[in-house]
Amino acid sequence: MTSVPNRIVRYVGDIRRLPVTEPSAWLTAAERHELDFFAHEDRRRQWLAARWVAKRLVARSCDPAQLRRVEVLSRSPAGLGQAPLVRINGELSAYRVSLSHAGDATLVGLTTDAAAIGVDLAWDVPQDRQFSAAWFTEREQAWLAERPESASLLWGLKEAIFKSQGAGQPWNPRGVAIDSYCDHQVRCTLFGRPLSPLATWIRPAARGTATAVWQPPQHDSPAKVEQELSSCL
Ligand SMILES: CC(C)(COP(=O)(O)OP(=O)(O)OC[C@H]1O[C@@H](n2cnc3c(N)ncnc32)[C@H](O)[C@@H]1OP(=O)(O)O)[C@@H](O)C(=O)NCCC(=O)NCCS
Repeated sequence: MTSVPNRIVRYVGDIRRLPVTEPSAWLTAAERHELDFFAHEDRRRQWLAARWVAKRLVARSCDPAQLRRVEVLSRSPAGLGQAPLVRINGELSAYRVSLSHAGDATLVGLTTDAAAIGVDLAWDVPQDRQFSAAWFTEREQAWLAERPESASLLWGLKEAIFKSQGAGQPWNPRGVAIDSYCDHQVRCTLFGRPLSPLATWIRPAARGTATAVWQPPQHDSPAKVEQELSSCL
């Protein structure tokens, strides 16, 4: 018997190598409508690649009919970006998904138990003082003064936290204040509200950092939490 891990983070370094097939066969009508929102070919390719990975992780199949049972939508009725909602056979599911795109890379995070997750691929984040002063808190600026190369890590954490824990606010990097972080945990304040510590997965990526944060389970011991954190291509 195989079991599905509670958390999956999948990094794909080159989406052009994914075996993505004809979209009309594996997208729902609502997904095709969302895809039509994007005119630019690169953005459409990113959107499709992340859907392909996310839907395959949920369906655990690459059969187009199985993929079409899973629907991943990420736009509000007003057309603004929002945390993706996952439906299976038209019903909202306990799966939570987070997506990030950068060039030809994609990062997909998934939880199977309704725990909020956020992922971000932070590439080419400026390391100069002007950028730091504009978007980072004083504590973060002090870290950056010592280690400018951690700009993509801090930026990625901010975006991943916002995607995981945001409640419909517009994105503002200063709205996410990182209080402390290490390899496996981040403490932060979101729009003035201190959050419980979040678990982290942080890896160097081609032009920056790949980051995932999620709500750690309340009751399970860490040893009981199954995780699949992987990179491919
Ligand atoms: C979150 C955000 C800053 C990420 O932008 P980015 O760094 O350029 O892009 P990334 O590739 O890392 O992430 C894009 C993905 O984030 C997800 N996303 C978008 N908005 C999100 C939000 N508010 N919360 C969680 N995830 C969000 C989407 O899945 C999107 O990918 P998709 O369009 O292919 O589905 C940007 O999408 C944003 O500003 N969103 C908020 C829009 C808004 O104001 N919404 C109001 C609430 S309805």
